[in-house]
Amino acid sequence: MEQAPWQRTAAGAGLLGADGRLAPTIFAEMTALAAATGALNLGQGFPDEDGPRAVLDAAKHAIDHGCNQYGPGRGSQELIDAVVEHQRRFYGIGLGRGDVLVTAGATEALAATMLAYLSPGDEVIVFEPYYDAYAAVAALAGAVLVPVPLAAPDFQPDPDRLLRATSPRTRMIVVNSPHNPTGTVFTEESMRHIVRVAERRDAIIVTDEVYEHLVYDERHVPIATIDAARDRLVSISSAGKTFSVTGWKIGWIMASPERIAQIGAVKQYLTFVNGAPFQPAVAAGLRLPDEHFDTIVQSFTRKRDILARGLRKAGFQVHDARAGYFLLADAAPLGVEDATDLARRLPELVGVVGVPLSALARPSRRDLRSTLRFAFCKSDDMLGDAAGRLAGLRSALAPVV
Ligand SMILES: Cc1ncc(COP(=O)(O)O)c(C=O)c1O
Repeated sequence: MEQAPWQRTAAGAGLLGADGRLAPTIFAEMTALAAATGALNLGQGFPDEDGPRAVLDAAKHAIDHGCNQYGPGRGSQELIDAVVEHQRRFYGIGLGRGDVLVTAGATEALAATMLAYLSPGDEVIVFEPYYDAYAAVAALAGAVLVPVPLAAPDFQPDPDRLLRATSPRTRMIVVNSPHNPTGTVFTEESMRHIVRVAERRDAIIVTDEVYEHLVYDERHVPIATIDAARDRLVSISSAGKTFSVTGWKIGWIMASPERIAQIGAVKQYLTFVNGAPFQPAVAAGLRLPDEHFDTIVQSFTRKRDILARGLRKAGFQVHDARAGYFLLADAAPLGVEDATDLARRLPELVGVVGVPLSALARPSRRDLRSTLRFAFCKSDDMLGDAAGRLAGLRSALAPVV
């Protein structure tokens, strides 16, 4: 049977099951495997420790004080104001209240933005490996995904490859920096090049900055600080990673009032509104003093280092992560060619779960085949335990003679 355009995009990204429909993600499979085997789940990127007490208490307070019904379509005024303040405080960016739209996480922000601007046949540039929702939503919009490979060791975009990947049909460039899953941070030079390419093709730039406060040795610099980007920019962030509240799903879009209206028109038919009591709580989080944001960085730097040491000791080649929740670990030095196969066996071999990097890239990316992604957004104890278990991997893999 002939494939619909959305199926061609989804199939190219490896998202379809044998029945031609979207299949459950490998993350669901690996999380189920962790639950079934009791293995330590370093597959999915959610913290196992609560975020700041003040933020949790603010949500409870909002629930206790009647903030439990549909709120304003653009989001609560308190959160909108807090986002405006946050952008000025951290980046010197001046926004107005009309430049912000609150969404059900960054994921809905991305979905509403893509659905607002993409028509069937339009091309969307993404940097690969990529957060899997980009491919799925591009497919749902009938658009064509055009991945630009990021390669080890630094995972920076190659300027020529980016330019060559564009065409007169390029409608959107999705920029995820700090980047999941590589932990890379695009250099200012890379970002300026992306802006030039977008200008040349008259494309919209959509940024996904959910890891903005999890950058370890430097400070995050949004593309929005580049003046030339402003008119074509839709910036997205969310609270989940910064405040360890991934289950709350509070995100936001920052763009011109005209774009906010266009994207908001789509969002109203996706969720209409969401998370009323969590919105003032996230506002409280964004207004926390600087020490809090410094503590997040220190704590995640320590966690990254515990896991990196454990993975290296276990025999993986570990790529440096400058940001985010994840470490990439190549199992080739352990004699492993297929990380998907290893991921399925890892719980039984050593009681740890990771995901194969191939889940976040096209099947043709052979250079990523032997690499796994491990999340370090876990308690120090759990990471220490995981490191101890992984130390037994080499002998568990050795053929029995
Ligand atoms: C790059 C990236 N964007 C977006 C999201 C999802 O954000 P949210 O939970 O706010 O929808 C994630 C979560 O893993 C992510 O890694």
